[in-house]
Amino acid sequence: MTRHSRQLRETSATYPLCKRYQGVRTRTEQLVAPLSAEDMVVQSMPDASPAKWHMAHTTWFFETFLLAPNLPDYTPFDPTFGYLFNSYYEAVGPRHPRPQRGLMTRPGVDQVMAYRKHVDEHMSALLMTPLSDEITSLIELGLAHEEQHQELLLMDILHLFSLSSLKPAYSPDWPEDASGRRGQFKPLSAGLTQIGHDGHGFAFDHEGPRHTTYLQSFEISDRLVTNGEWLSFIADGGYHTAALWLSEGWTMVQENGWNAPLYWQHDENGWKRMSLRGLEPIDPAGPVTHISYYEAAAFATWADARLPTEAEWEAAARAGLLEQVDDVAWQWTQSAYSAYPGFKPSAGAVGEYNGKFMVNQMVLRGGASVTSPDHCRLTYRNFFQTEKRWMVAGLRLARDSRQPGVVNPNDSEFARDVVAGLSEPTKTLSPKYFYDAMGSDLFEAICETAEYYPTRAETGLLKGIADQIAASIPDGAALVEFGSGASEKTRLVLDAAPHIAVYVPIDISATALNKAAQSLRKKYPTLVVAPQVDDFTRVLTLPKEADGHTRVGFFPGSTIGNFTHEQAVDFLHAAHDVLGKNAHFIVGVDMVKDAHTLVAAYDDAEGVTARFNKNLLTRINRELSADFNVGAFDHLALWNAERERMEMHLVSQVEQVVNVAGHRFHFAAGERLHTENSHKFTVASFTELAARAGWSVSQVWISDAPEMALFSLQA
Ligand code: AVI
Repeated sequence: MTRHSRQLRETSATYPLCKRYQGVRTRTEQLVAPLSAEDMVVQSMPDASPAKWHMAHTTWFFETFLLAPNLPDYTPFDPTFGYLFNSYYEAVGPRHPRPQRGLMTRPGVDQVMAYRKHVDEHMSALLMTPLSDEITSLIELGLAHEEQHQELLLMDILHLFSLSSLKPAYSPDWPEDASGRRGQFKPLSAGLTQIGHDGHGFAFDHEGPRHTTYLQSFEISDRLVTNGEWLSFIADGGYHTAALWLSEGWTMVQENGWNAPLYWQHDENGWKRMSLRGLEPIDPAGPVTHISYYEAAAFATWADARLPTEAEWEAAARAGLLEQVDDVAWQWTQSAYSAYPGFKPSAGAVGEYNGKFMVNQMVLRGGASVTSPDHCRLTYRNFFQTEKRWMVAGLRLARDSRQPGVVNPNDSEFARDVVAGLSEPTKTLSPKYFYDAMGSDLFEAICETAEYYPTRAETGLLKGIADQIAASIPDGAALVEFGSGASEKTRLVLDAAPHIAVYVPIDISATALNKAAQSLRKKYPTLVVAPQVDDFTRVLTLPKEADGHTRVGFFPGSTIGNFTHEQAVDFLHAAHDVLGKNAHFIVGVDMVKDAHTLVAAYDDAEGVTARFNKNLLTRINRELSADFNVGAFDHLALWNAERERMEMHLVSQVEQVVNVAGHRFHFAAGERLHTENSHKFTVASFTELAARAGWSVSQVWISDAPEMALFSLQA
């Protein structure tokens, strides 16, 4: 260890700038560690530079702008390096032609490493002296500059390796991009906002001055566009539809034969892409990267959206509305790269750093997986020419706000749930949306089919044990039914238990509820019927008629099986809270049985269940301006023995793209849309589930085969 490097170590603990200097410089050397000397020399295209050049140029920056003017008697390491490693500084003098950086076989990698060491030792001496603000800022700039080259180095290596027939991995352990879900649009209202850097702490000159700008109200996606969405764009002919493209972009598509992002390739097994981990299958949930501005703009048009402006991006990021801000991919904006009001380039040669590039480039915001740690800020302005694709660049959508006061069905909970479910890696819809008017009729028809045993079995069982249930209900109790519908099965209990004082049916359908209440009041004149229109899974309080009465819950029909186990436990917990101390809860549960009986019950010969399943798509078409081709999906019912549940799916017969609520979804041929789970239980498994929510089983009645059970739970 030399005297200077020892000094650098010793002072690093006390001087944060020393420590930062050492950290940044070391990271560059760590980044080149996986590379061979040959990897470090080649230049794969004029935009890219060899790794060796990046290592030398970042060193040249410190030598030229810090050591030469500020360290007395500093002798440059090699007088020829000023010419070789100047990038674009006219004020500093002429330079080696950029497209020929890959021809520099001399100096060798060893000499460049020695150059780095020489400069580091002298920088350590400079860092030991009292530093003016101006010099400190220049050192900060040199470090931020080196971090920019660290990112360039990785992107350039990726480009180089993508052209190798061996498709080598830079590092098999390079972290995967955090996978994404389809974003939700977040609104921001119109008004004045401040953007740009406020001058506290380091920033590049072009990030300021901070200034006021007006934003119209707009919406911006909280996530980046995914590869899966890009596959839909491709499948929908995105690269072949001139109307989606800016004129220059369309020319680029045709001249270059673009049909996918850079680094994507297609073979008989589908799409793959080159990454720092080597060639790998496309992850549909991963963010799309390596797209030009033209592709980003075309995609946004296809998705009925647009790119955000940089002011919108910054305002939304500052408001905390965005995910995947700076850890995944730089995000194209629709803002041309130009000066902020009041911008003045820094004095001296480093004034050439940004200002002179303010034409014919677009701004990208955020940061990327290859960006150095802590390098980014919300005010950071990256910029590239519109056709470039080798950077880790992706996109986030934005759109103008919908007109205020106009209710947009696509903003409903139904729309959000459907869009979120179709955006999952395994497309899923909630079974609660089966029950529009047609779905409810079809469910009743299912209950009449020869194969669907649960309704008949449960009704038969209830008839047989109604007296026993009645005996377990205290005098003057309130019977609370969750999801009561027409209250058909309840009548069996009410007939056997005239001592029930109050009946509280809870259902989301006011029409069904009022109809049932009227007829029950007629039939049981002394019974107080207090209907409650509500989503029974979210009920928190009961009508006042139930006050002061011991409560008995009733939840027949085995609907509990349609919840996940977690949802079932949550529901049982909530029911526990709402029914209170000493409550009973009678719950209908379908039992595990042979697969043949189960599958037949969910795939009846007349096809009623298939119509019920597909009606969900018809409902989505009608209510969410969707265009599912219902005939291009098959009904599938299967027994999942491991999870003890019947599953219903809709299987896409062909590869297709479907528009739903302003979004597009790609279905591969044979891809499944999971529409329902219907869990089946054993006495032990249901007892265990109920116990997780604080209920113990006081009695179980089980029907003849096919078995259905009624569990009496005690709070
Ligand atoms: C409402 N639920 C209990 C029914 C079940 O069996 O899971 C819904 C159904 N799905 C297909 N057939 C019936």
